[in-house]
Amino acid sequence: MPKRVVLAYSGGLDTSVAVRWMAEEMGVEVVALAVDLGQGGDWPAIRERALKAGAVEVVVADAREEFARDFVAPAIRANALYEGRYPLVSSLSRPVIAKHLVAAAREYGASAVAHGCTGKGNDQVRFEVSVRALAPDLDVVAPVRSWGFTREDAIEYARQHGIPVSATKASPYSVDQNLWGRTVECGVLEDPWETPPEDVYELTLRRDVEARELVVGFESGLPVSVDGRALALEHLVPELDQVVGPYGFGRVDMVENRRVGIKSREIYECPGALALLMAHADLEGLTLERDVAHEKARLEPRWAELVYDGLWYSPLKTALDAFMAETQRHVSGEVRLRCQPGGCFVAGRRSPTGLYEHDLATYTDADRFRHQDAEGFVRIFGLSVETWARVQGVGS
Ligand code: ARG
Repeated sequence: MPKRVVLAYSGGLDTSVAVRWMAEEMGVEVVALAVDLGQGGDWPAIRERALKAGAVEVVVADAREEFARDFVAPAIRANALYEGRYPLVSSLSRPVIAKHLVAAAREYGASAVAHGCTGKGNDQVRFEVSVRALAPDLDVVAPVRSWGFTREDAIEYARQHGIPVSATKASPYSVDQNLWGRTVECGVLEDPWETPPEDVYELTLRRDVEARELVVGFESGLPVSVDGRALALEHLVPELDQVVGPYGFGRVDMVENRRVGIKSREIYECPGALALLMAHADLEGLTLERDVAHEKARLEPRWAELVYDGLWYSPLKTALDAFMAETQRHVSGEVRLRCQPGGCFVAGRRSPTGLYEHDLATYTDADRFRHQDAEGFVRIFGLSVETWARVQGVGS
């Protein structure tokens, strides 16, 4: 049995009950670790709650910059969308939290770390595989998986133990949030046929906003400015949320395949993330050479799948990162986004390293394409098909 455990603490009902439950049922000292990933937590209140729940120590780590730089940035380079749609909000955050869990375990002399995930989700996989990669000597404890409480049991346990939890104002949903977006599950959403009620949304509530344009600047594959104003990524994404969210842009409603074999209905709100991914992919259209672009497009879904599956710290994902990074050297320039009620789309792009050559593409007299070369090229390109058709016949 470990003596000291560092728990990934969100301040919610489950992790608050987990503090006391581990202390009582397992007889361990619990260090609560809250990680700021831009979810906008009330940190003093969260600290207070962890102490009331019985934590011997509370650590709040501000990991916003690190999260943006080391986790969100590679996702942008890889145009990462799981099953073509989900920008990996929670999937990206677990490996960074795992890193901080391990660091805190070392600092506070703990021999185990803990998380508040259930047995049905992806997040347990991401935490545990990450911790095993980073610190195979540490045990991982998952109280929520073993205690068998219903939500009502947990609320009752908290009440009996004087743990202040806001679960009384009971959101019917399970929400996870960080600077890359917001995820919502459970409640009425469990029926995939049901239209999501408006109250699931926070970042994409439509407001009465005028149509507008904005220009996102990129350097080597990463967004660095909005309308010419330089911004660090951890500030740029929330700023973009504010701009494009009110147009109702950034919603995803999907049934996805969890790693544990369950299909689940998910609502995502990622206005800034989806605008950036759209802009980034578009700029690649201008700046990546054809074969590189096509090969990259094949590898992107694999990158997203690995990260979704909890394999952030894995050799294949590391190798793919190196490939992605190499492709991004000349992905620099500007993308003009147009926002109007109902959406946000790319209206234009330009780049000093763009491969678009007007005098090759044009049908005007500025043309410098050698038309006569096309004849031989097309004849030889089609030679094998021609041979096949002559000898074996089309459709015979
Ligand atoms: N389905 C998404 C994923 O697996 C979101 C998970 C949200 N996690 C949560 N604990 N509410 O990445």
